[in-house]
Amino acid sequence: MTAAGMGPWRNMPEFTVTFGKDAPPPEDGRLDAAAFHRNHAAIAPVLEAFLRDRADDVLEVGSGTGQHAVAFAERLPAVAWWPTDLNDSHLRSIVAWRAHARLANLRAPVRLDASATDWHLPALGLPAEFTAMFCANVIHISPWAVAEGLFAGAARHLTEDGALFLYGPFKRDGQHNAPSNAAFDESLRRQNPDWGVRDVAELRTLAAANGLYLAQLSEMPSNNAILIFGR
Ligand SMILES: C[S@@+](CC[C@H](N)C(=O)[O-])C[C@H]1O[C@@H](n2cnc3c(N)ncnc32)[C@H](O)[C@@H]1O
Repeated sequence: MTAAGMGPWRNMPEFTVTFGKDAPPPEDGRLDAAAFHRNHAAIAPVLEAFLRDRADDVLEVGSGTGQHAVAFAERLPAVAWWPTDLNDSHLRSIVAWRAHARLANLRAPVRLDASATDWHLPALGLPAEFTAMFCANVIHISPWAVAEGLFAGAARHLTEDGALFLYGPFKRDGQHNAPSNAAFDESLRRQNPDWGVRDVAELRTLAAANGLYLAQLSEMPSNNAILIFGR
């Protein structure tokens, strides 16, 4: 069964989530996201530039399969990487990838619904403060409430010098940066009017409402970007 056929994913179009689509998942539950293989090598140096000399905690929101958690925990052995997700099959996949990778700095995944406006990490058994939060390909395939919850959570739980890393496709001042992103946006909105490629300008406004600002925009392959928000 594909991830798109399970739980909250049952209304998800196949092209937005490919976890387990092309091959049956391994019996241990590890799922595979095709996009991971295309994007992790480009994302890693951006995270490394910020985290290289730090032995701190990183919270990942919407970890999906858990492949980013494994890849980045491996490249950044001094940081403790804390994966989270909402979807039970994805949480199982993260557990399985963690068992497979056996990395001392990769923590057990925790169920976190980022759309809640008041999530408090210590209540979930997590540290109260994180130096970085990382969230890839989540806020366009979920209602705007997830972006709102994410920024509110970042405001509560980032250290003073902390940063929120947001990876995905983004509009720039109302314009798509590529025809493929415009088509992707349309297809998302057809599936669910509450989904859609978000605009950097809207995210800056949301950030400002939470005491954060856009510190850096790094272009990524395939017309994606990483936005880095600081305090
Ligand atoms: C397209 S997947 C991206 C997964 C992973 N970050 C990646 O880049 O491969 C979107 C992820 O967001 C998660 N998600 C959706 N709504 C969420 C919410 N309200 N809170 C936390 N995670 C959520 C889904 O379960 C899914 O794992």
